[in-house]
Amino acid sequence: METLRKFERVCEIVDQNGKSASCLIPILQAVQLEYRYLPEEILTFIATSLGIPPAKVFGVATFYHLFTLKSKGKYVIRVCNGTACHVKKSMDLHAALRTKLSLGERQDTTADMLFTLETVNCLGACGLAPAMVVNDEAYGQLTPNLATAIIDEIIKREAQDESDASRTA
Ligand code: FES
Repeated sequence: METLRKFERVCEIVDQNGKSASCLIPILQAVQLEYRYLPEEILTFIATSLGIPPAKVFGVATFYHLFTLKSKGKYVIRVCNGTACHVKKSMDLHAALRTKLSLGERQDTTADMLFTLETVNCLGACGLAPAMVVNDEAYGQLTPNLATAIIDEIIKREAQDESDASRTA
């Protein structure tokens, strides 16, 4: 049922953008916005819908940095490691968050799919170094304690939402 709904949504996206190869990038952008990544089975489905080879769709999806084929958490934390942030010890934030989220050495997404931790080169907010963004929200002049407190706040909010949802169910 879940899978069926997933493909129905992709059909809508394809219909809204147009069934032609020239619409591939906007379609991939809309799909990624919906699922936070590009699932492989959906890329194949898009190729069939547009009548183009799956290799072309995979080629575009892997060429552009804005696309990801890896599933990400509900909250994507991007710690800046550009020069201004790096000299202000942004990697200490990264290490503190990694510990906070109990992420293993090669792991960047928590097992409950709530958080993904990444680094980026510059967020364009160098005056606020060291900085990070969580989804679209930017935070600056952070310390490891402030960064982990932001995560605690999100975890608390999520737990509250879940208990509200179970009370109304
Ligand atoms: S170097 Fe971090 S925001 Fe520019």
